[in-house]
Parts: sequence; structure tokens; C-alpha cells
Amino acid sequence: MDIKTFALIGAAGFVAPRHMRAIKDTGNRLVAALDPNDSVGVIDSYFPTADFFTEFERFDRHIDKLRRRGNAVDYVSICSPNYLHDAHMRFALRNGANAICEKPLVLNPWNIDGLHEIEAETGARIYNILQLRLHPSIVALREAAQAVADRLHDVEITYITSRGNWYQRSWKGQVEKSGGIATNIGVHFFDMLTWVFGPVRYSSVHLNRPDCAAGHLELAGAHVRWFLSVNADHLPVKQRVQDRRTYRAITVDGAAVEFSTGFTDLHTQSYQQILEGRGFGIDDARQAVETVYHIRNTAPQGLQGDYHPLCAQIR
Ligand SMILES: NC(=O)c1ccc[n+]([C@@H]2O[C@H](COP(=O)([O-])OP(=O)(O)OC[C@H]3O[C@@H](n4cnc5c(N)ncnc54)[C@H](O)[C@@H]3O)[C@@H](O)[C@H]2O)c1
Repeated sequence: MDIKTFALIGAAGFVAPRHMRAIKDTGNRLVAALDPNDSVGVIDSYFPTADFFTEFERFDRHIDKLRRRGNAVDYVSICSPNYLHDAHMRFALRNGANAICEKPLVLNPWNIDGLHEIEAETGARIYNILQLRLHPSIVALREAAQAVADRLHDVEITYITSRGNWYQRSWKGQVEKSGGIATNIGVHFFDMLTWVFGPVRYSSVHLNRPDCAAGHLELAGAHVRWFLSVNADHLPVKQRVQDRRTYRAITVDGAAVEFSTGFTDLHTQSYQQILEGRGFGIDDARQAVETVYHIRNTAPQGLQGDYHPLCAQIR
């Protein structure tokens, strides 16, 4: 396979090194990176000769110059804050490159229609990182669910991933930039759930706060109670005693899904699939974007209906 060239937007952030590694591990090359923050020494571990820009205008000019010289970048990887994904994907496609974008692809369902138009106009493609679909436990769960498709499953999902005070101060704590906790933290799980159990028939929200959210989903193949939190006070006592900051539990019909390992390299696997023409495109992202949009815009009903048991403990 010939070597593909990449540009990366949001190079100084938390998730960017996973993309640098995926580009390197798939035998390709990062040629340019952008971030207003210049704490990007990590680039040297992967692509020390890549050009780096802190200003969009100069990055834009550089990408355009490469294109005019016949060296257009093949892909732009997007690791910027969620609300900028739409603009950054448009930038990529207008420059003749395909886009590989972090989750959530966009914040609002109507943005997806606009992206379809720009794909059609440019002939370039947009791919979304939906790495839980590659997790071996989730793949096995989907196969099992499809084998028993004649009844509704009962699913409970709990994800507590403690974040310090910085979280609410950063763009991640601002609903207009991140979409809030159900979007920013939950979109992976809502994508995974609908990929495994089918589309959403009905959704209700019991709790929606800056630090936690909970609700109920009726999917084609399952009833789901979900609870998401970034607040360490919501961790089970056992976790706190062991000084563990994350608690992740999924049960299906009362049985736990083993889901504690298998997360390494999923970005590299996502890149492999994209490069082989099997990446997840705009339409794969649509259901989860619609689900989190709906959750974001639903008034929480409190402790009524089929709520997650942890809701009763939240003050
Ligand atoms: N797939 C996953 O498992 C996973 C994990 C974490 C984050 N993410 C997603 O990746 C993206 C980045 O998240 P993160 O945790 O790395 O956040 P982060 O805040 O650590 O990084 C975001 C980076 O974008 C930069 N940035 C801000 N404005 C910019 C602009 N106008 N142009 C270019 N860069 C800009 C910031 O300076 C920062 O370095 C988000 O969309 C997030 O939802 C995905």
C-alpha cells in the first residue's frame, strides 16, 4: 500500500497521541499539525519532521500550498473540541482530503445532512472513530444479541469516570461546546447500544446535571437503564477504597459483560479499517448523534418510570 499523508487538528490534546500512533502504526506519515496550544512535544515521539502551526490561517495556507504543488494531504485527523468538528471536517474536504473525526461526529443531527452535501460536492469521505464497535466484548455481545433476536433484553449500563475540577472549567464542561455529559462521555455507549440492539424507539431522561446524567432507552431489541457520571463521589465504595477512578459496568439480562480490558490499539484498528475502505461513515454516526441530541433537549423527569438504581442515591 502506498504511504498516505496526514494532517492533524487538535494536536496538543489528550486523544491526539492515539491518532499519531495510529498513523505511524499503519505505516503512514503526519506532515502537518495544528493547535492553538503549543505543548506538542509529543509529536517528536512519532513524526519529528511534521510542520506545526498555532494559527489556523497559516495552517490553512500550508495545506493549500501542498495541494497546489501536487502533494495534497490524503487525510485530516480531527481531535479538536466537539463543536469545531463540523467546521474542521469541511476544511478537510474543501482541501480534497478525507476526514477522520473523533466522536461525536457533530453535535446536531442537521449538521449530518450538510456533511452529506459536502461529501457529494467534493467526492472526499468522512469517517468517524467509533472504536467500541471494534472491542471484542462488544462484537461478541452483538453476535449473541442477534442470535436471540426474538425477545427484548434488559440492559443496565453504569459508567463513572471521575474528572477533577478542571473538567467543568474546560470546553468539556460547557454544553454548547461539548454537548454535556451524555454527549461527550455517553456517545460511545449510545452508539454501541444501538449498534448491538438496534435503533431507539423511545428515550426518557431522569437526571441531567453537569456532573451526571441518567435515563432510559427503549431500543428495538432492549430496555436500557443508563447512568453516566464524572463525579468521584458516585463511585462504588470498593472503587474508592482501592483509589480507582473509573467504574464501568454493563449487565445484559442480569449477567455482567466483561469489559475491563481490550481498549488498547482500538484507534489503530479504526485507522486500519478506514485505510482498507471499511471505516464508519456519516450514516453510521447518525443514530448516536440523534440520540444524544434528543437526550440533551429533553427535560429530566426525576425519579419516575424505569430509572437506573443509582439515581436514587444522587443528591
Ligand atoms: N475516542 C475516544 O476514546 C476519545 C477520547 C477522548 C476524547 N475524544 C474526542 O476527541 C476530541 C478531543 O478531545 P480531548 O480529550 O483530546 O480534548 P483536549 O481538550 O485534551 O484536546 C483538544 C485540543 O484541541 C485544541 N483546540 C482547541 N481549539 C482549536 C482550534 N480552533 N483548532 C485546532 N485545535 C483546537 C486544544 O488546544 C486542545 O489541544 C473530542 O472531540 C473528544 O470528544 C475521543
